Amino acid sequence: MSVFTEETRARAREIIARYPADRSRSALLPLLHLVQSEEGYVSPAGVEFCAEVLGLNKAQVGAVATFYTMYKRKPTGDYLVSVCTNTMCNVLGGQEVYDTLAEHLGVGHDETTGDGKITLEHAECLAACDYGPVMTVNYDFFDNVDAQTAVGVVDELRAGGRPMPTRGARLCTLKEMAIQLAGFADEREGAVADGGPGEPSLRGLRLAEQHGISVPGYDPNTPIRSKAEADKAAAEAKAKAEAAKPAPAPEPAKAASGSTAPDVKAPDAKSPQVRTAETRQPDAGTAVPDAPGTKVPTDGAPPAPRDAQAAEAAGAAANPPAGDAKPAGDDAGAQQRNLKEAEAGAGANGAGPAVASETGGQK
Ligand code: FES
Repeated sequence: MSVFTEETRARAREIIARYPADRSRSALLPLLHLVQSEEGYVSPAGVEFCAEVLGLNKAQVGAVATFYTMYKRKPTGDYLVSVCTNTMCNVLGGQEVYDTLAEHLGVGHDETTGDGKITLEHAECLAACDYGPVMTVNYDFFDNVDAQTAVGVVDELRAGGRPMPTRGARLCTLKEMAIQLAGFADEREGAVADGGPGEPSLRGLRLAEQHGISVPGYDPNTPIRSKAEADKAAAEAKAKAEAAKPAPAPEPAKAASGSTAPDVKAPDAKSPQVRTAETRQPDAGTAVPDAPGTKVPTDGAPPAPRDAQAAEAAGAAANPPAGDAKPAGDDAGAQQRNLKEAEAGAGANGAGPAVASETGGQK
């Protein structure tokens, strides 16, 4: 019997429906977060579940789940504490923070405390070097931490508290965070709106303001809203735009047969992904005239068919295999002849020996 609830299955269907029908395997990343939200890690059952709902095999799912560090392969604590020990944070004290936490908690990298509350890991650059040293708890940031602050945070978590990170919303558990990473709104009270951006994050904005640089229509005082509020505002703006639209003009009469009016092409319904794939692989069935390296005939004549067999035969005739069945380039006789020619050329030029190329020619 599956360990996954009907609610998780419904969410899985919702995730898959976000992608085009022939691209459903793209749903794998959020699906892995989804199974992690139920079990706290990507278990063998989670791998099987993803494979089943996407029509993949378990090896394909496992290959993705083991590639990304955010997918945990063994049970993880309620709070994943990641301390950046990369270069910038390290010189600012990140290693000291990590070592102090490891000693205080009695665990090492990727290990969980006995009460199941905290999993500690050291992390590569967390992309917040200007706040270093940093640590995250379930991917929410604690900036400019020192060893004492870090110990205070983990102690509060183990005592049942949910401290505020430096930026963002109040901490939630790893399972709750995994729901958000799967693409579902966090409906907890204050989950989105009770934290603000840090001043260093706004530094570029402030500089732009000082220099009179602005984006038309952007209000720097725009509040960070919950998803429900944002959805409501978007719906209101859409209704307002619809109401302000002018009445549609009557449809023009169809051109009579034999009209000299130019043809109007239907809009290209291809997705940007299909266009990109075609551009990268112009032989894949659809002609893409502007693909790099594609020769487009301009005289209207069809390109001459390439006689692959004739070309192959000509190539084989020009490069007979050596008697010992080695490729022609490995023919010892040919190599000696090339060497002699090179030496003769060097003697004639009064310069050093020319360099024989791999194909027996000279450079
Ligand atoms: S080095 Fe720590 S956030 Fe970049």
